[in-house]
Amino acid sequence: MARDRRTAAEAKPKGEEAAAPQNTLSITDNRTGRSYEIEVLEGDAIRAADLRKIRVMDDDFGLLSYDPAYVNTASCRSAITFIDGDRGILRYRGHPIEQLAEQGTFLEVAYLLLKGDLPTRDQIAAFTHEITYHTYVHENVLKLLDGFRYDAHAMGIMISVVAALSTFYPEAKDVRNDENRWRQMVRLIAKMPTLAAFAYRHHRGLPYVYPDNSLSYTANFLNMLFRIGDREHTPQPVLVRAIDVLFILHADHEQNCSTSVMRGVGSSLADPYSALAGAMAGLYGPLHGGANEAVLRMLTEIGHVSRVPEFIHGVKAGKGRLMGFGHRVYKSYDPRAKIIKQIADQVFEVTGRNPLLDIALELERIALEDDYFISRRLYPNVDFYSGIIYQAMGFPVELFPVLFAIPRTVGWLAQWQEMLEDSEQKIARPRQIYVGHGERPYVPLELRS
Ligand code: ACO
Repeated sequence: MARDRRTAAEAKPKGEEAAAPQNTLSITDNRTGRSYEIEVLEGDAIRAADLRKIRVMDDDFGLLSYDPAYVNTASCRSAITFIDGDRGILRYRGHPIEQLAEQGTFLEVAYLLLKGDLPTRDQIAAFTHEITYHTYVHENVLKLLDGFRYDAHAMGIMISVVAALSTFYPEAKDVRNDENRWRQMVRLIAKMPTLAAFAYRHHRGLPYVYPDNSLSYTANFLNMLFRIGDREHTPQPVLVRAIDVLFILHADHEQNCSTSVMRGVGSSLADPYSALAGAMAGLYGPLHGGANEAVLRMLTEIGHVSRVPEFIHGVKAGKGRLMGFGHRVYKSYDPRAKIIKQIADQVFEVTGRNPLLDIALELERIALEDDYFISRRLYPNVDFYSGIIYQAMGFPVELFPVLFAIPRTVGWLAQWQEMLEDSEQKIARPRQIYVGHGERPYVPLELRS
């Protein structure tokens, strides 16, 4: 979607400006009695830089906006993902997530996010071919993997290996070159499943299974993970489709923690492998993409439906959080969680029911009736049910955040590209409010008490 790129009106003290634009905000600074007109941009935003004109003395720095954790700050203009958190709406490039999950494939959605529109038949064929033929990794990557302990967490391995890929592709530094940039993006999307499968096989002490380019993106990933010996792994089509849909649901989610890291690191013009390793590190935390793993551990710890009320009581008393609940943006049911709940039924028909599902359903039932959760508008998020499905499919818990990182690679790259092409973006550099000591002299060690 093309967006209007208006430049900010200079915020000037009243009287110094001819006709004020219509969409303005009048601010009176009670410290000085001066009034200012500030332009209100599309999206009901003002430019924080406009506040700088508001000052007490001429040589003041000017007014700052203070926003820890960026709860009310737009850091960019983006045409990729739309979320209405109050109404539970999620769209990629305008397409409702429900339609994409029901009718699309992951690679189609990847193309949509990266290029802006759904691909034609020829375009998806060419894109699929490109991705399929970049799945191999340099053999030295295997030596790197061998250096990790057998019990190393898969996310730690992935973060390190993705960062290391930057040394295999030094040309990736040329981030302003469109063609070169595209090549690195294709490489990253293609190699993530290979790296994830290798990290898993290393953990299990199993020989690595090389990519099979005759298989689809998802089937190839499952084959690299689960193939034993010469017996080709032939996963149930229902499970392949379930993974594909889960990948679609996780592909992008606008300016969350990890995406902001991707944009932040990328804003210094670092290569995409280094930036993506940073984004993965952001995702790893239990408050973000590590939540699917944390949910599974929580459900296992609760152990039985009968212990759910006691657990909820503990959460309300401040003894930890109900993992997989709550979201910075969604203040109603996360639309992705709704779809995942439906997939769970289809998966369990094939794999058998995961006993943890009953605990999850009871947690949800009680929480949605409890004033603590209602008043804080806490609902299940994308991570609440995904882990139960992954476990039923045979994935180890440590791989859950990796299963999030593989599809989110597409979103990170789409956002990174958009940032690089945005003429308003520069190196990310927030301000601070200094609250430390004023100037004080150095005291020699022998004189310090
Ligand atoms: N369980 C219990 N209480 C919660 C939860 C929860 N899961 N989430 C928020 N709250 C409470 C907070 O204690 C706070 O209560 P208070 O007002 O009495 O202090 C209130 O709800 C608001 O919470 P904040 O932490 O201010 O909300 P914020 O927007 O900063 O956090 C977050 C969002 C991090 C997702 C939070 O809801 C959480 O920790 N959830 C559990 C972890 C999780 O599932 N993360 C995955 C998110 S989805 C994703 O990243 C892919």
